[in-house]
Amino acid sequence: MLSQRLTRVALVTGAAQGIGKAIALRLASDGLKIALNDIQSKGDQLESIAEEIKKSFGSEVYAFPGDVSEERDVEYMVEAVSKGLGSLDVMVANAGISGPLTPILATTKEQWDDILRVNSKGVFLCYKYAAKQMVAQGRSGGRIIGASSVTGKQGMAHTSAYTASKFAVRGLTQVAALEFGQYGITVNAYAPGAIESPMSQAANLSASQVGKAVSNSLPSFSTLGKTGDVAGLVSYLASQESGYITGQTISINGGMYFD
Ligand SMILES: NC(=O)c1ccc[n+]([C@@H]2O[C@H](COP(=O)([O-])OP(=O)(O)OC[C@H]3O[C@@H](n4cnc5c(N)ncnc54)[C@H](O)[C@@H]3O)[C@@H](O)[C@H]2O)c1
Repeated sequence: MLSQRLTRVALVTGAAQGIGKAIALRLASDGLKIALNDIQSKGDQLESIAEEIKKSFGSEVYAFPGDVSEERDVEYMVEAVSKGLGSLDVMVANAGISGPLTPILATTKEQWDDILRVNSKGVFLCYKYAAKQMVAQGRSGGRIIGASSVTGKQGMAHTSAYTASKFAVRGLTQVAALEFGQYGITVNAYAPGAIESPMSQAANLSASQVGKAVSNSLPSFSTLGKTGDVAGLVSYLASQESGYITGQTISINGGMYFD
């Protein structure tokens, strides 16, 4: 078991905005050292979140811009985090893209490749290099967490590539849990429904649309979920208390869909 005296280190990808930013702030408030990642063009946003974290929580925090779908970026980032902050204990492979809503007949090979590259290959690379580092550290208690989606459990029309990419995260999470369990590492994913974030704003998603789409009368559908709702779940999955949960993709969707 990882000593309680060590300050654990979390790396959050896609942390410049939305769910990733909320997760980074939440893990910092939980007392972890934080490494932030997002694409190069969001370097300034990352730096300002790093400042916010330092000011609010006094945490040690670094920004590592890079593309999660590039193997050398992920390898470098994991190595730099471990050297700079002392270890890597929690990997949150959150970065993802959604792309336009298009039926299969109008979806191009390029759109398909783009979405699978970031959402599936990116998560695979983050899981792989995080686990490699955690195994090399030689101590139990590592936590690897990925971003799936409600569409990782049930297909939604006009989201073929996105749905496939999020089903892939769910399958990968199960395999990684089986393979990394022997090192005391748990691997889980979160499957949000419609969460208020730049991604859902870009897709012009409203609570009433979601409610209609699933013809469900639960009161939770009067609003979209908040990024903090997802961050709360990730906080628990990242904690030492969650050690008996692995291989799961946990829905957080206001009741949009029951597993
Ligand atoms: N918002 C929702 O309703 C919702 C629902 C289900 C699942 N999700 C998933 O949750 C995750 C976060 O979603 P969000 O709503 O915060 O999205 P968002 O678009 O607001 O933020 C995603 C972040 O990932 C970054 N990113 C994209 N490609 C990257 C790459 N190659 N390398 C590094 N960073 C990259 C983006 O720059 C962005 O800052 C995504 O994986 C998304 O698919 C979101």
